[in-house]
Amino acid sequence: MEKMAAVILAAGEGKRMKSKRPKVLHPVCGRPMLEHVIEAAKSICSEIIVVIGHKGEEIKSFFADAVSYVEQKEQLGTAHAVMQAKSLLPAEGTVLVLCGDTPLLTAETLQGLWQTFKDTQAAATILSARVPDPYGYGRIIRDALGNVQKIVEEKDAGSEERAVNEINTGTYIFAVNYLRRALSEVKNDNAQQEYYLTDCIALILQYGGKVTTHLLDDYRLALGVNDRLQLAQAQQIMQERINRQLMEAGVTIIDPQSTYIDAGVKVGQDTVIWPQTLLRGKTYIGEGCVLGPNTEITDCRIGNGVVIRHSVATGCVLEDDVTVGPFAHLRPHTELKTGVKIGDFVEIKKSSLGRGSKVAHLAYIGDAQIGQDVNIGAGAIVVNYDGQNKHQTTIRDNAFIGCNSNLVAPVKIGKGAFIAAGSTITRDVPDGALAIERGQQVNKEGLASRFLQKKVAKNDESRQEKE
Ligand code: UD1
Ligand code: CA
Repeated sequence: MEKMAAVILAAGEGKRMKSKRPKVLHPVCGRPMLEHVIEAAKSICSEIIVVIGHKGEEIKSFFADAVSYVEQKEQLGTAHAVMQAKSLLPAEGTVLVLCGDTPLLTAETLQGLWQTFKDTQAAATILSARVPDPYGYGRIIRDALGNVQKIVEEKDAGSEERAVNEINTGTYIFAVNYLRRALSEVKNDNAQQEYYLTDCIALILQYGGKVTTHLLDDYRLALGVNDRLQLAQAQQIMQERINRQLMEAGVTIIDPQSTYIDAGVKVGQDTVIWPQTLLRGKTYIGEGCVLGPNTEITDCRIGNGVVIRHSVATGCVLEDDVTVGPFAHLRPHTELKTGVKIGDFVEIKKSSLGRGSKVAHLAYIGDAQIGQDVNIGAGAIVVNYDGQNKHQTTIRDNAFIGCNSNLVAPVKIGKGAFIAAGSTITRDVPDGALAIERGQQVNKEGLASRFLQKKVAKNDESRQEKE
């Protein structure tokens, strides 16, 4: 397929969002709207030009050199925006124009638009949609024969025009020569005193160019996000799309309505996802896993057969057959080798655990390198922070860390070493040693019984007083 340039309009403030953030950077399923548009455009375009203006620096710093930028200093309308890209447009050929706020358009749709443009030998082809509620969109106005005459914006439309339910999605392919001429002649004599790209359509017809339309099969994908309600709608539609694709590929999603999976997340076959589970960012899940309910996994790489219930994991790598939770917190740079078991109320940060090691309950592990088949008892704490610096702990294979012990870093626990429950370990423990650090226990014969007798006597007395 031949490739063309794309111009994506993203200079507007997006007033209706009532946001400090530029509209096109608001995420839909984990990615800025503009990123979805760029991705779709790339399927038919070799060069992407983004028109930035309002808070353009934020957009630039997000996408860096993945695209080229032109600046529209004042937002005088969509035609004015395209005009800013004029010097970057090819001398001849075609250009795709899209809005940065229509995140649901797919590569297939744009390929269809391109095909129609070629098949109809048009000077311009508009991607249109028939919608149940056209409010706010430009309407496609046709003559008695059904040929496109013009696009009329909501604010400039008469009542008859308003009744038209075929709308402009804001996506077009133009022959560059026609577009250049129209851009140089378009006026701003309309309700908003803006230079409308949509007015270029009538101009191109005047120049004798042919204008055709490509109708979207699923009108919902035309959604332009101007406010937070539409942002939520876009989120819902994209989420449905992502969940459907995963289910078609062999993933069980128990309740798709309450399962939130970001664009680009990969999930293997026969994985089961329970309700209220979020899979976010750059996350890869293997086959045959069980995730959720109530689980949030962000930027993780997870192997096969992993079970994670009621837990939060961010920036971790989990190998096969690891089990996590309920109620565990795995923080960035945690690496769990095959078969590791992390139980309830355990927090792990920047640590690695070797094959088969277990931290079954109520523990904190930070900045630790832990070998294979290590057992860490309930309430054990790695004391990694002295108030100023973080220190490393090493626990070698087959060590046993008793309940409620503190390992004060930096410290090394040798192979097969045994830490007695309740010990506070401040010095290295050699291989095979037993370390015990606690006060001597003293048993006072009969003392408890005497206390008990006194207490019973006192209770009897106070009861008799009340009677
Ligand atoms: C626009 C179309 C309308 C179409 C709708 C589809 C025009 C005049 N109207 O209306 O026919 O139905 O999109 O969603 O084109 N922008 C700039 N510079 C500007 C103005 C806008 O870059 O000076 C950008 C915005 O950031 C946005 C896009 O262009 O990404 C569309 O602008 P917006 O104000 O949302 O246009 P709509 O009123 O939605
Ligand atoms: Ca819009």
